[in-house]
Amino acid sequence: MIEFKNTIVVNKINIKSIFKKVNSFYLYDYKKIFYHIYIINKLNLYCFFSIKSNDNLYLLKIINNTINKFDIVSIGELKKIILISKKKPYIIFSGSGKTTLELIFSIKLNIFCINVESFQEIFKIYYIMNILKKNINMMIRINPNIDAKTHEKITTGKKKNKFGILISSIKNFFIMSKILKINIIGYDFHIGSQIDNLSPIKKLLHLIYILYKFKKFQYLDLGGGIGVNYYKTKNIIKIKNFYNIIKHSLKKKKINSKLLIEIGRYFFCNTCVLVSKINYIKYNVNISICITSIGMNDILRPSLYNSYHKIESYNLGKTLTNFFGPICESSDKFINNNNIKVKTNSLIILHSSGSYCKVLSNNYNSKNKIFEIIVYKNKLKIIFNLEKFKNLINNYE
Ligand code: LLP
Repeated sequence: MIEFKNTIVVNKINIKSIFKKVNSFYLYDYKKIFYHIYIINKLNLYCFFSIKSNDNLYLLKIINNTINKFDIVSIGELKKIILISKKKPYIIFSGSGKTTLELIFSIKLNIFCINVESFQEIFKIYYIMNILKKNINMMIRINPNIDAKTHEKITTGKKKNKFGILISSIKNFFIMSKILKINIIGYDFHIGSQIDNLSPIKKLLHLIYILYKFKKFQYLDLGGGIGVNYYKTKNIIKIKNFYNIIKHSLKKKKINSKLLIEIGRYFFCNTCVLVSKINYIKYNVNISICITSIGMNDILRPSLYNSYHKIESYNLGKTLTNFFGPICESSDKFINNNNIKVKTNSLIILHSSGSYCKVLSNNYNSKNKIFEIIVYKNKLKIIFNLEKFKNLINNYE
């Protein structure tokens, strides 16, 4: 449990001590992670963890020991899983641009399934299978042309998006799969991320019903997308209700396919805060400016999607509202609706930083990637070290 009093206390550990040594870091709460895993297990569904949301090796080990199912989008993610796996994991390979090498690698490994996104990709897989004399399960990702009513940049199920095979091509697809005798085990629909209401999903379920009547399928993969609470939307739908409604609707429509989901964000988002401090406070005409020690290189979501991450500090100092990072871009700015009291050197935290934050961090302005630390059984454990300068120059000839 992360509490915020005069300092940050996580599971009764005061983190001020480490803050003296490091400027900024991601801080995870082990207990909360296990709580989320418990909730997901209770859904009683085949849940694949979408590794793109957080690929920290320590956290992947936790997922491997509990969920043991992964949704990947690159050979790098696949290799990370192989590195940490004790038992053979179930892997779905998603993504619209898999390379030949990636396909060969995953077919040789005989992963659970490849989610294909185009006719061209199917032909490529067919060709590789023939050369390798191996088979692989495939699911077809369909683009249903349904608006997930989320941020434009994380909407994936509209006709204009690059993802999936259009519903109008499905008949041709059936003909082709019959001729090629390929093993299509189901259909995949991932229409977007941070979906906070069920209306687009209900539309989708109707379409799935029509498809199922036309031809039954063994697996139905609804992708990921369940929205989480960024402390902005108060009445966000609970994960349990979200999937209970879906399960109920499928049952009512007599769709007996096994339901798969590929959840990313929900796992870690609210199990982690980004800890930082105020480096400077200055006043420009009629605006006050706080410069923090973290920036868009550490957490890109605010600049990329205008995303809100709740900022907190101890209640000491002047009331200020404008928080910027140190990167040389005007867009290196945090979205903040609150009045927060801060002083120079105040410690601040950005909430909901466990998903799509560290993975999107980069070395812009030649900054190195920061620590990731977990609070485990009342101890602090570093799970990612501060990136060394050596890493920034290693690849130059
Ligand atoms: N399956 C597929 C095929 C996906 O593309 C994604 C996410 C997921 C599952 C997991 O979705 P989730 O449960 O995490 O919503 N960087 C953005 C989010 C991009 C999502 C990409 N695809 C952000 O920071 O909001």
